[in-house]
Amino acid sequence: MAIYLVLFFFSLTLLSSQASSQTDEFTYSGFSDPKTNLTLNGVALIDNDGILRLTNETSRQLGHAFYASPIQFKNSTTGAVSSFSTCFVISIHPEYPRLGGHGLAFTVAPTKELKSALPSQYLGLLNSSNGGNSSNHIFAVEFDTVQDFEFGDINDNHVGIDINSLNSNVSAAAAYFSGDDGSVKNDLNLKGGKPIVAWVEYDSATNLVNVTLSLSSTKPRIPVLSLQVDLSPIFQENMFIGFSASTGLLASSHYILGWSFKMNGETKSLDLGSLPSVPGIKKKHTRLITTISITAICFILGSILLAVFVIKKIKNREVIESWELEIVPHRYKYQELKRATKSFKDSELLGTGGFGRVYRGTLGRNPETQVAVKRISHESNQGVREFVSEISTIGRLRHRNLVQLHGWCRRGADLLLVYDFMPNGSLDKFLFEETQPTLNWEQRFKIIKGVASGLLYLHEGYEQIVIHRDVKASNVLLDGEMNGRLGDFGLAKLYDHGSNPGTTRVVGTLGYLAPELPRTGRATTGSDVFAFGALLLEVACGRRPIESKAGPDDLVLVDYVWNKWKEGSVLDCVDGRMKGDFDENEVLMVLKLGLMCSSNEQKGRPSMRQIVSYLDGEIEMPEVLRAPGTFREDGGFEDYLHSYASSSFEKTSSSNQNRKGLKSSSSQNSISKIETTLNI
Ligand SMILES: *[C@@H]1O[C@H](CO)[C@@H](O)[C@H](O)[C@H]1NC(C)=O
Ligand SMILES: *[C@@H]1O[C@H](CO)[C@@H](O)[C@H](O)[C@H]1NC(C)=O
Ligand SMILES: *[C@@H]1O[C@H](CO)[C@@H](O)[C@H](O)[C@H]1NC(C)=O
Ligand SMILES: *[C@@H]1O[C@H](CO)[C@@H](O)[C@H](O)[C@H]1NC(C)=O
Ligand SMILES: *[C@@H]1O[C@H](CO)[C@@H](O)[C@H](O)[C@H]1NC(C)=O
Ligand SMILES: *[C@@H]1O[C@H](CO)[C@@H](O)[C@H](O)[C@H]1NC(C)=O
Ligand SMILES: *[C@@H]1O[C@H](CO)[C@@H](O)[C@H](O)[C@H]1NC(C)=O
Repeated sequence: MAIYLVLFFFSLTLLSSQASSQTDEFTYSGFSDPKTNLTLNGVALIDNDGILRLTNETSRQLGHAFYASPIQFKNSTTGAVSSFSTCFVISIHPEYPRLGGHGLAFTVAPTKELKSALPSQYLGLLNSSNGGNSSNHIFAVEFDTVQDFEFGDINDNHVGIDINSLNSNVSAAAAYFSGDDGSVKNDLNLKGGKPIVAWVEYDSATNLVNVTLSLSSTKPRIPVLSLQVDLSPIFQENMFIGFSASTGLLASSHYILGWSFKMNGETKSLDLGSLPSVPGIKKKHTRLITTISITAICFILGSILLAVFVIKKIKNREVIESWELEIVPHRYKYQELKRATKSFKDSELLGTGGFGRVYRGTLGRNPETQVAVKRISHESNQGVREFVSEISTIGRLRHRNLVQLHGWCRRGADLLLVYDFMPNGSLDKFLFEETQPTLNWEQRFKIIKGVASGLLYLHEGYEQIVIHRDVKASNVLLDGEMNGRLGDFGLAKLYDHGSNPGTTRVVGTLGYLAPELPRTGRATTGSDVFAFGALLLEVACGRRPIESKAGPDDLVLVDYVWNKWKEGSVLDCVDGRMKGDFDENEVLMVLKLGLMCSSNEQKGRPSMRQIVSYLDGEIEMPEVLRAPGTFREDGGFEDYLHSYASSSFEKTSSSNQNRKGLKSSSSQNSISKIETTLNI
């Protein structure tokens, strides 16, 4: 009996060791072989030519493809990760060749599903909250075609090694080595659509991971990336290997043409000639005549369709001008947006702002997406045209503290903009509406930090400086997790180009307008900082920057806070609705920072980078605080009121009359007049 049992266990161990030795090595030249055993999820599929397509050019999708069985990476007695080597051929076809979608990653993970992964910037690997967590056990080599500021990406065409996080441990611009001695470095465009051969190798003796790229089947001698890392804490004993990709607002088709893998040895290199050819780039020697006649038929049909299309377009008066075709974020059809918002029904109205009306909309089916559609009627065609020409810039800005622009549509003088839907509405409601539940300090501080990092991204994170021009509480929107996100960036510019050529209208909202703005007429990062300062004080004090109901001495919030600061009783300003429940140090920091940003002198204000460092506690706040500008004495604020007022609508009144100060009722009047001209 005992002998049988021993035999039984012996055969079991034999079986299991056989099973694991089966998955030590494989080679796929194309994936059409019926024995191919991959597990696909998301939008991934194997097409008729045997090409593995992780994603196509549909926005915000992810695709995974994993080898179906787990692979034993660790020696069960020593716990060390064995050497391995893999080779694969990728091809990336962006919807817009210069721009590209998000990229793909060779992935080693504990599961095949990666259930918590999000599409978009996380490459289908992680989500917004689990980045950097060592319980992820994810190792990936990314082929990234977007520069994501949040993850410190070096450019929009790089490879990187990622461990448990999308902040690469090491990354390099995509390149390969060639030449007789293999030392000539050549740039490589990941988005070019050409098949790119990649090798990922790990040597357990030296703990070295090498990533090598090439345009041919021969492996260059020098890797483009090397990282010394012991993989044993990161890998579990059995892991799944495969690929993951995602698309964002801009999308790419991500293809894998072939794949080989081997434990403890060098994997087979793939012969490019024996792989299926990349879609879109057809082989030259296909039947020429058929091609020509098909082309001719297509051309004729195309012309007819085009003619019908053009006639229909003219009838619908939805004219697409040539410059509009070059714009990148999705251009929606007017009918589509009309349907989405139930013909702009009042019941779908989310709010009315200075720039127009905002409707809730539902786009697509399976899954439905909720969006916010902003409808702006603009008398000046010129303004719309300039704005639309900037849409491609605005559409490419992505940061978790910005409200993402999905697309747009223009119909005559109407401009429709499609944004992410923000379920919690805008910050000002929570601060000022008595009927709303108020926010606690923790929530307020998180919102402040979020908005600061969004604004820093606009100022420094993108290839060109983007000035928001209209930072204020009603432009801060709150997502499902009560994160603050800045909306309407760039929109203020629409109103910059007034109907009077030659004059620049000052755009912004009173109380948030930097004093130098009306004088210079030029918005700068400094004027955004000024507005952000007003927002800081507002969030801490629960009061608008200019409160006409307040007593004359308290009319201007900055003045009020500064007076209390001088008296040493600044905590009196803090919003009473928090009932004294807040972190005193944080509140003091925010108030102090608010006063610093409100300096009349542009030079006296900190930069957004400094602000973010202060808020994160990375650097100490300065000890001394300068007066933000005593409005009545040195003429700062009042001077601005005076100069603005006299130039725009009180030309006849003497400047002395305006200088009498804010206490007199006539000045109160002028404030409300300014409010009307500025479209508050
Ligand atoms: C992408 O694939 C999905 C599902 O396979 C399909 O519904 C969609 O139309 C495709 N999109 C494009 C742009 O080919
Ligand atoms: C593919 O692999 C899975 C998991 O190892 C296995 O259950 C299935 O039978 C395999 N299918 C084929 C066709 O080999
Ligand atoms: C594990 O490592 C030990 C010591 O290096 C070696 O003797 C053994 O063969 C290894 N086992 C496997 C399954 O590779
Ligand atoms: C992110 O993933 C983790 C698991 O890794 C999960 O617990 C969490 O709920 C996910 N968060 C979101 C926002 O999806
Ligand atoms: C890491 O993830 C695990 C499981 O999802 C979670 O319990 C843990 O709190 C996370 N750790 C951190 C630091 O986020
Ligand atoms: C690099 O990898 C290690 C794991 O070995 C990880 O703990 C660390 O956070 C990574 N560093 C960066 C900058 O991502
Ligand atoms: C990795 O590259 C280095 C040269 O940079 C080379 O010395 C080493 O042998 C390579 N390791 C593997 C596993 O290919």
